[in-house]
This record gives sequence, structure tokens and C-alpha cells, in this order.
Amino acid sequence: MTVVARVRDELAARGLLDRLPAAFLAGVTRFATPPAAELGALRADAEGLAARLAAGEAGDADLPLLTRVLFFAGHGGLLAAHGVRTPSYDLLGSYRDNLRTPVGPRLPERPRAGDRRWRVLGRDVAFPVGVPACVLNGGEEWVRYHARNGFSVLTYKTVRSRAHEPNAQPNWTFAPRPPGDAVVSDPWDWVAPGDPRVSTVNSFGVPSPAPEEWMADLERSLAAVDDDQLLLVSVMGSGDGTDLVDDFAATARLAEEAGATVVELNLSCPNTLSASADGVKPPLCLDAGATLAVVEGVRRALGDRTGLVAKISWLDEDRLAALVPGLAPLVDGVAAINTVAGRVVRGDGEPTFPGRAVAGLSGAAVRGQALDLTRRLVALREAGGHRFDVLAMGGVTDVASFEALWAAGADAVQSASGAFADPFLARDCVAALGDTLPRSVPR
Ligand SMILES: Cc1cc2nc3c(=O)[nH]c(=O)nc-3n(C[C@H](O)[C@H](O)[C@H](O)COP(=O)(O)O)c2cc1C
Repeated sequence: MTVVARVRDELAARGLLDRLPAAFLAGVTRFATPPAAELGALRADAEGLAARLAAGEAGDADLPLLTRVLFFAGHGGLLAAHGVRTPSYDLLGSYRDNLRTPVGPRLPERPRAGDRRWRVLGRDVAFPVGVPACVLNGGEEWVRYHARNGFSVLTYKTVRSRAHEPNAQPNWTFAPRPPGDAVVSDPWDWVAPGDPRVSTVNSFGVPSPAPEEWMADLERSLAAVDDDQLLLVSVMGSGDGTDLVDDFAATARLAEEAGATVVELNLSCPNTLSASADGVKPPLCLDAGATLAVVEGVRRALGDRTGLVAKISWLDEDRLAALVPGLAPLVDGVAAINTVAGRVVRGDGEPTFPGRAVAGLSGAAVRGQALDLTRRLVALREAGGHRFDVLAMGGVTDVASFEALWAAGADAVQSASGAFADPFLARDCVAALGDTLPRSVPR
């Protein structure tokens, strides 16, 4: 029996088949309404699929459409339960709803590269691929999910010293068109799971539970990863001047208290530098002086054995060269790049995220910038005789893009948009490169 036939039977048994087109269209129009012709085409596709399913005539060729229809109908989990690639995060659900559990597929067994290991931030890890700080590592269930699916360098989502609510939905959309002056992204856009061209835009506002909540969850998350896997914790402060330094340091201490062995500082999200006309503040890492004050303050606050990583955005040559010599002696690692901020509009010209003109682009569209920054970072490390590890990310959506950042000199490679769209990405990297990836630890 094909997977489409099995899923069909399950839909029928649950009484979901008749309502499928309506549920799909409700999802498609949840945040905005597509132009009439596009909406009509989507409706016709969904109704045609439902009719083929009802008649028992749907075949394997229907799987891509079925995946899209079930995802927007809120039933992505049903496909995932049959091992089908489907995005792990429900874009229609709230940040809180999603925290509970991923909706993506799970591998029956953790993929392993035999007994080979790679050294990352002082630990021997099973394979140097992971998921960076983002909603995909927002809590214990997500950390467990990625660890079991073979992502071995994980960063717990940025947390703060007090609860911070997410922006209004939508928060995250696909961005299938090449970026121009603005990125054009409609909330009903879709890129098929496993397509290496996937890009996304997001505007979450760096939400955080209160420390009481995230500290307990972090403790459980740290216990959920295996000995050959690493879980870092991303933290961020707010305020100005010494208040900012103190808040970063206090939050880093809370993470340490909860058991974190490596703390990552999110220096690359909108922060305290003065707001520009569109209301979005540039990331802290653009200001080398303010950045170093924060990193120094945190380094002083943490115990000697706690690792420290600085996460930065794409920086131009002058800014990166100004930052690295001061940063290098203070940190064990540098992570880059964060999303690339820019104007994001729907096809009708309205903001994709109402009230927020600017959002963060990531995935294939930022691959070139990630590669460029990684190469310069590695070159500056070598030229300066520095020893920090490089955690590279940006546009890793398949084995080739993983390999490109590795070949540029990264010590670990992480993927957010790629892992979201293809939860089996780590498995594919391990299968393709487990025996051959250079720079493993001699054993
Ligand atoms: C939905 C989403 C949420 C994110 N949240 C955070 C965050 O809380 N902290 C952070 O340092 N980076 C955050 N990022 C940035 C990612 O960690 C990563 O740097 C960026 O997405 C580039 O990688 P990619 O091209 O693989 O997506 C987020 C990215 C996405 C897509």
C-alpha cells in the first residue's frame, strides 16, 4: 500500500476527507486573501485532490500536493507520522502552540557516522551538523526531536531575563521568489520539503518565556541530548549602556545556573542601538565597542569552565576586521550569520507582517552572504593566530550547502530554514559524508 493510500484511509477514518478543501482554504486565507485567480487555482487543486482521494484514485504523484494541502489544513502531523517529509513547525499555529511539540517527521533511529567524532567547543560530537538558536529549539520537545533526528550541535532558542511576548501572527512565511528591493512573500506561499532553494522570512520579536519557565525546561533539554551531542544556550539582554551589559550577564548566569556548559550571546538581533525610520533597531554587533563591552561583562560573570560564543550578523570587511581582534580572546566560538534584515511585502505590496515593514530573511537567499562571512572569519582567525571555533549557518538546505560552509573552515554547521523545511537534513548529511568528512578527531 502506498503512503498516499495509507494517509487517505486515515483521513477517511477520521472523517477529514470531505472537509479537506475547506480546511486547506481556511489555512491559505488565515492571514490574508490571495488574488482571486490564485485562490481559484488553489481551490481547484485541493478539490481535485480530494475527489481523487475519495475515489481511491490518488497516487504517488499526488504526494507533493497532498503535503501542501495537509500542511495548510493543519494536518501536517498526519503525514509526518507516516515518515513523509513535511515542515516541522506549524506556520499557522502560535509560538506557544508550537512550543509543545514539532509536527515534522521523526526517524526511527538516530543516524550515526559510525564511531567518528568531530571536536566542537571542546566536546567530541557525533557529526558537526545542527540547528541554531530559533523557535525550532524553543523547548525540550524540540531539542529532543532534533537530537534524535541526528542534529548534534543544537542551540537553545534565545532567552531573556524576563518574559517577552512574540509579535502578532503571522510570524514566519516561505519566501520563494528571489529577493529584489524588497522580499516578496505571501503568507500562503509554499516550498516543497526537501527543495534546496527554500528561503523564509520571519518576524517573531525574539519571544522568551519567564526565567522560571525556561530554566526548568533548559535543565530537561540538557538532559535530553546524548553525550556525543552539544546543546548551547542563546541569551540576549536589553537596555542601554551598563544596563545592557548587566542584563546580558544576568541572563547568561541564569543559563549557567540551569546547567548550560556553553552560552551563546545573541548580538545579532534588533537590540539597543537607536531605531531607524522603519522602527527596527540595527543589531548590536554593528557597534564593535558596545559589543565588546557586553562580551567582556558576560565573560567576567561566567565561571571559567563555561564556554562563550558570540553570534553575529553578516558584517562588511571593515566592521568584521574591527571586531574580531577584540572578540577573539574573550570567546570560544563565533556563530554567524543571523537572518538578513530587509523590507518584506506581500504580492499586493502590503507588509507581509502587518505593522512591521522589516523582517529577517534566511535560507538559500542568504547562502552567499553566509559563505562570504565564514571565509573572512576563518581568514581573520588564521591571520591573528586565534583559536575560536566557527559555527557557520545561513542557507544550509542540503548536503552541498553543508559541505560548502565546512570546506570554508567551519567547525560546525547549523541550519534553521533548511531544518524546518526538511527535518531529515541531518540524516542526509550523515549518510552522504559520515565516512568522508575531513577533520574528525583521531580515535
Ligand atoms: C524563525 C526563526 C527564528 C529565529 N530566532 C532566532 C533567535 O531567537 N536567536 C538567534 O540568534 N537567531 C535566530 N534566528 C536566526 C537563525 O539562528 C540563523 O542564524 C538564520 O536563520 C540563518 O540560518 P538559515 O539560513 O539556516 O535559516 C532565527 C531564524 C528563524 C528562521
